[in-house]
Amino acid sequence: MSESSAPLPITATIAVIGAGAMGAGIAQIAAVAGHPVLLHDLRPGAAVSAIAGIRAQIDKLVAKGKLSAEQAAAASAALLPAESLDALRDAKLVIEAIVENLDAKRALFGQLEALLADDAILATNTSSISVTAIGAGLKRPERLVGMHFFNPAPLMPLVEVISGAATDKAVADTVFATSQAWGKTPVRARSTPGFIVNRVARPFYAEGLRLLQEGVCDAATLDAVIRESGGFRMGPCELMDLIGHDVNYAVTRSVFDAFYGDPRFQPSFVQLELVQAGHLGRKSGRGFFDYRDGAAKAEAATAGPQPRPWRIALNLGHPLGSALSKRMYASAAHPLQTLSGVTDDRIATIDGSTALFATDGRSATAMALAHGLRDVVVVDLMLDAATVRRTAIAVSAHCPDAARDSVIGMLQSAGFAVSVFSDSPGLAVFRTVAMLANEAFDAVHQQVCSLDAVDIAMRGGVNYPIGPVEWAQRIGLDRVLAGLDHLQAHYGEPRYRASAWLRHAVRAQS
Ligand code: NAI
Repeated sequence: MSESSAPLPITATIAVIGAGAMGAGIAQIAAVAGHPVLLHDLRPGAAVSAIAGIRAQIDKLVAKGKLSAEQAAAASAALLPAESLDALRDAKLVIEAIVENLDAKRALFGQLEALLADDAILATNTSSISVTAIGAGLKRPERLVGMHFFNPAPLMPLVEVISGAATDKAVADTVFATSQAWGKTPVRARSTPGFIVNRVARPFYAEGLRLLQEGVCDAATLDAVIRESGGFRMGPCELMDLIGHDVNYAVTRSVFDAFYGDPRFQPSFVQLELVQAGHLGRKSGRGFFDYRDGAAKAEAATAGPQPRPWRIALNLGHPLGSALSKRMYASAAHPLQTLSGVTDDRIATIDGSTALFATDGRSATAMALAHGLRDVVVVDLMLDAATVRRTAIAVSAHCPDAARDSVIGMLQSAGFAVSVFSDSPGLAVFRTVAMLANEAFDAVHQQVCSLDAVDIAMRGGVNYPIGPVEWAQRIGLDRVLAGLDHLQAHYGEPRYRASAWLRHAVRAQS
């Protein structure tokens, strides 16, 4: 086996096994990169029809100006169907993308091992099965590595390069370098349940499902806040509808089981109900939302217009106070006051008595009690307070409607659409981001991957606007830790326990 971390030369033949959605995408990537590609599938004719589909995709790349006609012709000519495994014997890298079943994958690699040259690399695109377990039956498990692409493979930049217990470092290095040469962004991970992305992303779904289960907001409002305040491309509900609830629930279950029932990964009854009802999402016409012809589109709940309050005193020392000041400046018909002598971290005082705070993982009612106030409104985390279009607020138990409306009026005058949640700790964006970061820190603590790899993976694999580690650093690790401690205190559940890595990092900073 070569010790070099150079990519496989483009003369090396790549074999892809499994001509489904993923296999076809991977074959397209390798052919466009310049390799001869053999595509094999158990179903007769599947490889031939997949290649026809890939060639049509390649032609679209020419129409979009992304490939020259010559490059496209070469890539199309480089793709050949292989009706038998035997035809793959000269391949230098075999990427398996067959059914997600351990026995099927083991049996296939057993056959391949007997067929291929000694220096050929075996790669699996499994999304959830242990690379160590797939390799366990092989005579030489050191040449098996995970090469986990994301759907749609030609578009998503990330490849998780996953080392099982036996994987040779040189093999992982070659696959890493080859992925880079193919224009992908690889990250290294150790074979552990969910690898990086499917583990760290769990809270994105889980916290949303939790809010729905508690009736804090409805699905359309949750999605709007996560998109328009958190800057995520999709909300959790529309994303689960797209993935399919059967698939998403099965992944959650498998990660939950693999972590021996850790409550952090507990599946949700809300999603189970959808699966049991057959409301699997877009593919079945209904999920959280109704996709049938003529169905009305669910709209986010947005507070109606309120007058801008007269007396707004902003804490310009608070980043959100300063952003609000800038946003309101243009529309201000009367001057804003500056809040001076502030002894807590409030953002603003409105009409002398209503205090606005950023959520710190406590409910508005808990914050009111802690500060000895009655009228408290908390506002959710925003990706960028200078530009986001929407925010969510929650209101303390005894706060009168007029006080709530004054805050709504103020936020509207700064250009925000406002969604009012029932009083729940951490609202939507903060608790989601805090839990994503917590999972990221735990994965790093458990040696799954590096800190940098998490952020690259979550941006490149699931399009997060910024990585959870960078986001936590922007918020302040101490604030994220405090937020998690508050959530845990509120619920009394180990689900919200902070990662020991985070607690240690905060102590080390102080
Ligand atoms: P798919 O169901 O679209 O395609 C699988 C293909 O493999 C089918 O054409 C089937 O005929 C063929 N096949 C099954 N057993 C075979 C065997 N023993 N030998 C040769 N061909 C065989 O599945 P999809 O979605 O393409 O997934 C394939 C693999 O990629 C799975 O391991 C999956 O977990 C993984 N994956 C899937 C992603 C997704 O979003 N669909 C994302 C990343 C990984």
